Amino acid sequence: MNTHLIGTDVNRIDGPAKVSGAAKYAAEFFASDMLYAVVVSGAIAHGEVDSIDTAAAMKVPGAMEVFSHKNRPHMAWFNKSYLDEDAPTDGKPLRPLYDEKIHHSGQPVALCVAETFEAARAMSRLVEVSYKALTHQTDMTFAVQEAKKVEKSNRAGIEPPPKNRGNSAQAYADAPVKLAKGYLSPTEIHNPIELFATTVVVNEDETMTIYDKTQSVSNSQLLVCNALGLYKDDVRVESPFVGGAFGSALRPQYQLILATMAAKALKRSVRLTLTRDQMFTLSHRPETLQEIRLGADTDGTLLAMHNESLQATSRYENYFEVIANWSGLSYLCENATMEEKTVSMDISTPGDMRAPGAVQGVWAIETAMDELAIATGRDPVDLRLQNYAEKDQNHDKKYSSKELKACYAQGAAMFRWNERKPTPRTERRGTALVGRGMAGGVWESPQMPASAKATLAPDGTLTIASGTADIGTGTYTVMAILAGEALGLPLAKVIVKLGDSELPVAPLEGGSWTVSSVGTAVTEACKAVAEKVFKLASGLDDSPLKHASFKDVEFVNERISLRSDAAKFVTLAAALASGDGEPIAEKTKAGPNFLKQHGYKSYTHSAVFAEVEVDEDFGTVSVCRVVSAIAGGRIINHEAARSQILGGVVWGIGMALQEQAETDHQFGRIMNHNLAEYHVSVNADVHDIEVIFVKEEDNIVNPIGAKGLGEIGLVGVAAAIGNAIYNATGKRIRELPITLDKLI
Ligand code: MOS
Repeated sequence: MNTHLIGTDVNRIDGPAKVSGAAKYAAEFFASDMLYAVVVSGAIAHGEVDSIDTAAAMKVPGAMEVFSHKNRPHMAWFNKSYLDEDAPTDGKPLRPLYDEKIHHSGQPVALCVAETFEAARAMSRLVEVSYKALTHQTDMTFAVQEAKKVEKSNRAGIEPPPKNRGNSAQAYADAPVKLAKGYLSPTEIHNPIELFATTVVVNEDETMTIYDKTQSVSNSQLLVCNALGLYKDDVRVESPFVGGAFGSALRPQYQLILATMAAKALKRSVRLTLTRDQMFTLSHRPETLQEIRLGADTDGTLLAMHNESLQATSRYENYFEVIANWSGLSYLCENATMEEKTVSMDISTPGDMRAPGAVQGVWAIETAMDELAIATGRDPVDLRLQNYAEKDQNHDKKYSSKELKACYAQGAAMFRWNERKPTPRTERRGTALVGRGMAGGVWESPQMPASAKATLAPDGTLTIASGTADIGTGTYTVMAILAGEALGLPLAKVIVKLGDSELPVAPLEGGSWTVSSVGTAVTEACKAVAEKVFKLASGLDDSPLKHASFKDVEFVNERISLRSDAAKFVTLAAALASGDGEPIAEKTKAGPNFLKQHGYKSYTHSAVFAEVEVDEDFGTVSVCRVVSAIAGGRIINHEAARSQILGGVVWGIGMALQEQAETDHQFGRIMNHNLAEYHVSVNADVHDIEVIFVKEEDNIVNPIGAKGLGEIGLVGVAAAIGNAIYNATGKRIRELPITLDKLI
């Protein structure tokens, strides 16, 4: 019987290492001469450091040094040297400890280094800093007059709004049904459980091995080399395991530069871990305000669509995400205007957070579509089918595949959507009002250039190597599955190496593109190895494959067998035994196939259905049931794919009901900078979740037909929950999170 791995349920191959503690994270690497560093965070949101008194700190036993902009060793002065692979090109990245300028609350102002962690922490509390404060602005409602229109891309893959199509102002004016509302989403913090940390090990020859929490070892390597004037050959960055990141580790965070700077200056190994409250001084999901106007016919057919989106950014970098565009992409509408604006404030630069931009943009348009369904008396699913987009009107391109209709149908069936009562406040369970709502979701599925190496040892063990990361998404396992499938090997014979700057270069792990990009490179490297093995197999005396060509055979169950007659085969062991005893190694670079992809755009889609109970007296919401139906191309590891979607739904519950960074604008500082006061969904908030993967065949998106599932699971969830809350209560809340004070 043929054993195939793709599409089955495979436990994580790195699971045993993780649960036994053998898997090491950035702050767990050790060197015998190691020093410990602690960051002193600035207290004001805008201004300058006036003076720093380190005398008391340096009296702590074990104190080594307090670094600040006054005494720091040489660092690059040119802003360009601090640009990492994912930095917006119009802006000046933060240069930690470079000068006295303060750009945001919590910016590092000093670094205490000592023989022990306790000493470094004690020192950090004794450093006296005084400031010259300037006025700051952290409140978007007051900063809007400075909004700047987004005209062009300033990061790879981040597009400005498309040109207006049709005449949306006229179409809106003429439309019999009009809807115009504002939708506000708050600042969210990534909150991975693993804190940002860097352990710099200074080797005997003064080269450095840097263990960094990062989604890209090459990006971390690039930044420290440029900022600190180090040679690439002297700096190896490793990040074998990452305890969650969700986009926060796409760009290196400041602890990387600071730890490496200290190690270089003191010629000692250094470990620096940020505290939980310092995790709130980094990148975050930006606050947004979207003004949406929909014009429709009385039957709900869309005639005009506007999304004018506003998002917060820092003053030093013009970071933006794609928010408004999702409106014009999601539904067929000949008259559409999308506009994106950024508002600069005295905050740290926002950063990508799981499905950046789509999470906010789709929440707003999917809420507005629910409002349109109510206004036109249409069922929300029917309204979406009526306005179904068969092509990407933003880019005027075909979809490489789009099985969203199957998501609506299968999701609705499993959810029993037909039991929904269209009129709010008609169904009760005890003291709770019951409501049901749904929403669609969409995320892009790009392919990036990536390289990988496959090495088949004479004993039949295969090693796969690529510089990408596994940020908890299951990359180790998915690459093992693809490699095992290509060479007909059981998983036990596949070793996967990731997260090391000495491995073949791969893109940042993010954007849901790792399976698509690195998976294709791994598959192609394995195919190149397979061709060589086939030559050995067909060259054997009396080989049953003698007259076959490579395309006539398949690699299954450690055999090379004829596709037409599986009884004719050569075992992998026999083929390898006839070789020269050296490993067979192939390195491949796979890139987007622009020729094939020309004329198409690729996206993942979802339909999310939610049932809520809202307590009538207290306004508390319980999300009792969610069904998420996903069209994500070919599923490689069913178990990991399902886990990704489950995690997305859990986060969607948090986005709908809980998550919000609360800023005290008087100080320009986030107040709830800990996991006790910044609420995320916990077990008690999570009830029944069902995941469906609809069949979606796509031979354009990439050679393996997989679209990537890291982000789509979150998109659409908050809108489905908000729409269910409306169905339960008759209250439409257009400001996230939907907390009880807004419902009562
Ligand atoms: Mo993801 S926000 O691209 O890590």
